[in-house]
Amino acid sequence: MTAGAVAIVLAAGSGERLGRVEPKAFLDVAGSPMVVRAAEAAAACPAVGSLVVAVPRGHEGTARAIVAPGKPVVVVSGGISRHASVRAALAAVPDRASFIVCHDAARPFASPQQFVLVLGALEVNPDAAGAIPVVPVTDTVKRVRGGFVVRTEGSREELTLAQTPQAFRASALRDAHTRAAQAEREFSDDAAALEWAGYRVAAVAGDPDNFKITTPEDLALAELFAAERAHG
Ligand code: CTP
Ligand code: MG
Repeated sequence: MTAGAVAIVLAAGSGERLGRVEPKAFLDVAGSPMVVRAAEAAAACPAVGSLVVAVPRGHEGTARAIVAPGKPVVVVSGGISRHASVRAALAAVPDRASFIVCHDAARPFASPQQFVLVLGALEVNPDAAGAIPVVPVTDTVKRVRGGFVVRTEGSREELTLAQTPQAFRASALRDAHTRAAQAEREFSDDAAALEWAGYRVAAVAGDPDNFKITTPEDLALAELFAAERAHG
C-alpha cells in the first residue's frame, strides 16, 4: 500500500544557469512559483500523504507562506548539492513512511498522474526498489571530448532521458544515500544512487511536457507552453 507516501520536493538550488538573483524554484511560471506548482502536483496524488520541501537557507519563511497544497508540509533548509538537499529532506521524513517520491521543483509541469504512475509501478514490481519516468532519446547521442567525437552511443532505442518524480522504497533510498555519502559519491539523480548501490529500478513512461527548466530559454519556453495550454 502506497497510501501515506511522502513527497520530497527539491527546491534548494540557486539556479546558477538561469542567472537570476532569486533562487530558481521561487520564480514564477505562468503566475505561480515553480516550487508551488511542484508541491501542488505532488499533493494532488492521492497516495501522497505529506510533503517535505527543501529550499535555500534563508528562504524557509517564504516557502512556509506560499507552499500550501492542502496536505501537511515540512520545510527544511537544503544543502550545497542536490544530494545534500535530499539527505536534509530525508531527515525530516517520518520513519514509518514506506514510500518516498522525489521531485525537482525545476519541473513545474509534472502531472499528478505521473506521481500515481511511479508509485503504482512499485506496487506491481515487488523486486523494484525504485521507479522512474523516462522519455525516449530521438537524436543520435555522441560522446564528445576535447572537441572531438570519441563515440556514438549505440542502441538508440535503449537510450532514454530520466525525469522526476522518482518513487522509491524508503529503506532503499535511505540506504543508497547513506552509502553514497560515505563513499563521497554524487549522482545526478536519486535513481543513479540506487543503481550504484545495486538496487533494481523500474522505468515507466515519462511525459515530454514535463521538461526541466535550466536556462533562460527554458523559462521563456515554459511561459509559451503554459499560455498555449491555457488557451488550447
Ligand atoms: N537542488 C536542490 N539543492 C541543491 C541543488 C539543486 O534542492 N543544492 C534542486 C533544484 O532546486 C532543482 C533540482 O535540484 O529543483 C535540479 O537541479 P538543477 O536543475 O540543477 O537546479 P539548480 O541547481 O538550482 O540550477 P543550477 O545547476 O543552474 O544552479
Ligand atoms: Mg544544479
